[in-house]
Amino acid sequence: MDQSDENWWRHGIFYQIYPRSLQDTNDDGVGDLAGIIQRLPYLKDLGADAIWLSPIYPSPMADFGYDISDYTAIDPLFGTMADFDALLAAAHDNGLKLILDLVPNHTSEQHPWFLESRSSRDNPRRDWYIWRDPRPGGGEPNNWLSEFGGSAWSYDEATGQYYYHAFLAQQPDLNWRNREVREAIYDVMRFWLAKGVDGFRVDVIWHLIKDAEFRDNPPNPYHVAGRPSHETILTRYSTDQPEVHEVIAEMRRVTDAFGARVLIGEIYLPLHRLMAYYGNDLKGAQMPFNFALLSTLWSARSVEKIIEDYEKALPQGAWPNWVLGNHDRPRVASRVGREQARVAAMLLLTLRGTPTLYYGDEIGMHQVAIAPEAVRDPFEKNVPGIGVGRDGCRTPMQWDSTRYAGFSSVPPWLPLADDFMRENVVNLQSDETSILNLYKALIRLRKECKPLAIGSYVPIAAEGDLLLYRREAQGQSVVVALNLGAEPVAVTAGAIGSGSEILLSTFLDRKGEKLEGTLDLRGNEGAIIAPPH
Ligand code: GLC
Repeated sequence: MDQSDENWWRHGIFYQIYPRSLQDTNDDGVGDLAGIIQRLPYLKDLGADAIWLSPIYPSPMADFGYDISDYTAIDPLFGTMADFDALLAAAHDNGLKLILDLVPNHTSEQHPWFLESRSSRDNPRRDWYIWRDPRPGGGEPNNWLSEFGGSAWSYDEATGQYYYHAFLAQQPDLNWRNREVREAIYDVMRFWLAKGVDGFRVDVIWHLIKDAEFRDNPPNPYHVAGRPSHETILTRYSTDQPEVHEVIAEMRRVTDAFGARVLIGEIYLPLHRLMAYYGNDLKGAQMPFNFALLSTLWSARSVEKIIEDYEKALPQGAWPNWVLGNHDRPRVASRVGREQARVAAMLLLTLRGTPTLYYGDEIGMHQVAIAPEAVRDPFEKNVPGIGVGRDGCRTPMQWDSTRYAGFSSVPPWLPLADDFMRENVVNLQSDETSILNLYKALIRLRKECKPLAIGSYVPIAAEGDLLLYRREAQGQSVVVALNLGAEPVAVTAGAIGSGSEILLSTFLDRKGEKLEGTLDLRGNEGAIIAPPH
């Protein structure tokens, strides 16, 4: 990647690291910054251009770092500020951009700001958080629910008011209607940007502003039995308020002042609401995360509809992006199945827009079953037994077949997958047709091939298990044919002209094969085809 390119984030491959689980170097069973430095050559070899780190700041770890007690320091669990500086320098030396997780919606209850805020009603920082009187007659100020179970309001005996927390009670929400709060977080951003950080992934950005009147949320008519109880109400008044876009535009001005940096927004909203996060004149987030693939039904028609709806909804000039996995959702290899994980990889890396990979997906890591006594995730602890736990997608990276998979020399903080002896980087690297080598080949091809990197997306067909599309740029094109089922499919569409050539099959065994007007896809196979010369 051309490092001076101010559109680097459009052309790059992003890779999310969950720092607790990449590599431990100090024998405490938890990953650290020195471990990330150690693994940079692997990431470079894979073809990543930018790495995003989940939070590494001081934290009581009630939500594993998403509860921050100091925004401008490093938690000793992960290392020191000197380690961070070394990581940033090493990443840049390797041509990798570094993106930090910014968590502006809430702090830890241990953050000095909150300790002050809760100390008395007239503390100057009282208004930095969201304090409300009990409703007349007593009880929570309104019906808003915490995403991690129970009411979103906790009562503070000492001062006789409730504070609001969209997540855990240990994660009080900041009051983004307060100007000082905004400036304090913008200063945090400047602190890291001045060090040379290349941008932020902004945690729950659509939550920042709440209804000024704190109206009750309406019931959710579509609530599905067995889903978490917070879904029994809609979040009409607690999230996605119009004023949030002012805030995001302000954040963007902060990052833009430092040159070519990127603002990525974590947003779980329907498409028509999501698009607003690009901002007026595209002055909001450059990449409002597109999570549509995380919850889609895995069928050609559903996936094609998602792509088409998304492409159509994008504002003029807005750049798309795609995500297959993250630290909050079940692993893609378990969602779509082991065989289809390769097809999913080809989809992710041949769609128009920046792809974000989740660590371990490139070696086909699956969701690990966690025994009740091993559960660490507070979501699972608060709302047990209905499958919301996130530990299973956060297990240690599988590097090799040694005792703790090369992740650590001691038992890791979460159990390893039981197949790590076979499914690990060392083994897969030496297997020419492994999923890891597929990821590398896809990334390489995407970089070499203009249509894949920047071309337009042209749908051709979505019939049965077959998803077929073309990417076109500067008079060049390629066709992508994905078989989302286990049965063979013969593709005879005009798109496969006689003399077409296979550039890459998900099985990595058909490169250079010439086609005579038909492409016979095996079950669970995807292929990228070049037209006849
Ligand atoms: C985001 C994070 C998630 C965290 C939550 C609260 O959704 O991705 O891991 O628990 O915010 O901070």
